[in-house]
Amino acid sequence: MTYVITQPCIDVKDGACQVACPVECIYEGGRMMYIQPSECIACGLCLSVCPVDAIFEDRDIPVDRRHFISANKEFFEDAVTGWGQPGGAGPKYRSEMDHPLVTSFQGGEH
Ligand code: F3S
Repeated sequence: MTYVITQPCIDVKDGACQVACPVECIYEGGRMMYIQPSECIACGLCLSVCPVDAIFEDRDIPVDRRHFISANKEFFEDAVTGWGQPGGAGPKYRSEMDHPLVTSFQGGEH
């Protein structure tokens, strides 16, 4: 089980989730944040602080947002950042890149 960030985060990036995360598994991309699924301990703190309700547990995610499960995971793979499991967010692990799904996201789709 892991938590997943979805489209309301795009172009908002409030950042409260990143501060709340006790294992620093939330990483900043160009337009949104992404949760490293192997590092997430599923504590749920991020979900409770997000002001736009962008975060879901993977098993509870609405059907029309399921594609964000793979978008969060693939952000860390070679096709995007290639970071793998960095072991903690920080200045070194911040990117202007996004998953292609997010890069092509149009504002009106929120
Ligand atoms: Fe995004 Fe919500 Fe975190 S807007 S940066 S998922 S607090």
